[in-house]
Amino acid sequence: MSSSTNPSSRKILVLGATSGIAEATCRIWASQGASLFLVARNAEKLAVVAADLRTRGASFVDTAVADLDDTEQHPALLAHAVNSLAGLDVAYLAHGVLGDQAQAEQDFHTAAHILHTNLMAPVSLLTWLANFFVQRRAGTIAVLSSVAGDRGRKSNYVYGSSKAGLSAFLAGLRNRVDREGVTVLTIKPGPTKTAMTAGMKGAEKFADVDKVAASIVKAVDARADSLYVPFQWQPIMFVIRHIPERVFKKLNL
Ligand SMILES: NC(=O)c1ccc[n+]([C@@H]2O[C@H](COP(=O)([O-])OP(=O)(O)OC[C@H]3O[C@@H](n4cnc5c(N)ncnc54)[C@H](OP(=O)(O)O)[C@@H]3O)[C@@H](O)[C@H]2O)c1
Repeated sequence: MSSSTNPSSRKILVLGATSGIAEATCRIWASQGASLFLVARNAEKLAVVAADLRTRGASFVDTAVADLDDTEQHPALLAHAVNSLAGLDVAYLAHGVLGDQAQAEQDFHTAAHILHTNLMAPVSLLTWLANFFVQRRAGTIAVLSSVAGDRGRKSNYVYGSSKAGLSAFLAGLRNRVDREGVTVLTIKPGPTKTAMTAGMKGAEKFADVDKVAASIVKAVDARADSLYVPFQWQPIMFVIRHIPERVFKKLNL
């Protein structure tokens, strides 16, 4: 069994490792004995997450503090992670911001910041990672996009457009690298209970983060192309995507 298929020897890089969804996913990978390299911008939170994952059984945990908005740093950061892990099987991109939609409607810089963090920074990371994996003809890239990218809605179209761009980029990347032995998994969570959604209306009904994480781990193991999680978001978004524009533009979504 190769290291990429044996969970206990898998080498996993997590970008945005203090995200609620990433943390829950890492708890499962740690319990399987994976080796983890964790990147986050908040050193204190990162140290707590790393310590927890060590106690849960991770074979190896190393960390780096980085603001992922700084794309100039990406090549050195990624090379350092690969060096520290002595290889790489899975890269998991989890960082992102919801942003302030109302402010972004008035101020281009707010909108640009959301697009930079959620789209431009991932494009920079994915370009390096895809070329790294293609050279080795192996590897998995798993990325947290969102159901919000499936159709622009007035309540969050700036965030939604960042995720739409990300999903389209991933679809094209998959089309390029699948034939090189590299898997690209687009993950589209519906609303999930994490810091990002805390305090939102109806948050108590949002998906449980541990269940979402368990589905992500399964999809990575299955080398799936895409995942709607929880699964009912796939038919829901199918319907939403097919509502005629003349009707959709009148809805309060
Ligand atoms: N929760 C949901 O309902 C939901 C639904 C669909 C998709 N998603 C996506 O899932 C991913 C994870 O979100 P989550 O729900 O786990 O939310 P979260 O707990 O708020 O995590 C977001 C993470 O991104 C990090 N981050 C933001 N900007 C960064 C930057 N410039 N550099 C480094 N790290 C940065 C944050 O770091 P700090 O802690 O330092 O701020 C935080 O750890 C995001 O891409 C999100 O868009 C979430």
